[in-house]
Amino acid sequence: MTETTAPSLPAPLVPGRYRVAMVCLGNICRSPVADVVFSARIADAGLDDVVEVVSAGTADYHLGKPMDPRSAQTLTDAGYAATRHRAQQIQHAWHDEVDLILVMDHSNHADVTAGVERARVRLFRDFDPDFPGEEVPDPYYGGEDGFTEVLQMIERTSARLVTLVAGVVGR
Ligand code: 4NP
Repeated sequence: MTETTAPSLPAPLVPGRYRVAMVCLGNICRSPVADVVFSARIADAGLDDVVEVVSAGTADYHLGKPMDPRSAQTLTDAGYAATRHRAQQIQHAWHDEVDLILVMDHSNHADVTAGVERARVRLFRDFDPDFPGEEVPDPYYGGEDGFTEVLQMIERTSARLVTLVAGVVGR
C-alpha cells in the first residue's frame, strides 16, 4: 500500500540541526547499511553540515567489529563506501541527545523503549513510501538475497527520509 501523506518527524532538539540513529540488534547487518545509505543521501542533498547519522545495536555481541561481510559486499556492489564501520551499542543518553532513533524491527523497538513512551523512537519503515510500517527483516541467518532486499527497502526509505529531514532543518 502506498501512502498519500508523509508521516512527520520530531522537531529538532537544536534548531537547524538533526541527529539520526539507526538501530538494530547487532549493529553489523541492517543498521550499518541504513547508516551508510542514509549518510550518502544526506551528503548528496548537501545536508551533511547539519545532519549527523550514527548507528548502534541493542546488543553487545559484536562490539568493535566491522559490519557483516555480506552487508559490506552488498553495499560495495551498489557503489557505496562500506569500510569504516565499527559496531557499538546504543547508549541511554541518546534518548536526550538524538532527534530520531530509527529501529529496524518491533523487537528493537521494545528493547530501545523498554516500555517507556518515546516519540523520538520510530520504526525505520514507518517512512517506507511503498510498504509503510513493515520491519526491516533480520538477514543474519538467511542467504545473500536477504541483504539485497534489505538494501532496496533502505534505499527507497532513505530517499523519503532525506526530504523530510530537509524540511525539519529548514532547507
Ligand atoms: P543485525 O543482525 O541486528 O541486523 O546486525 C544480527 C547480527 C547478529 C546477530 C543477530 C542479528 N546475532 O545473533 O549475533
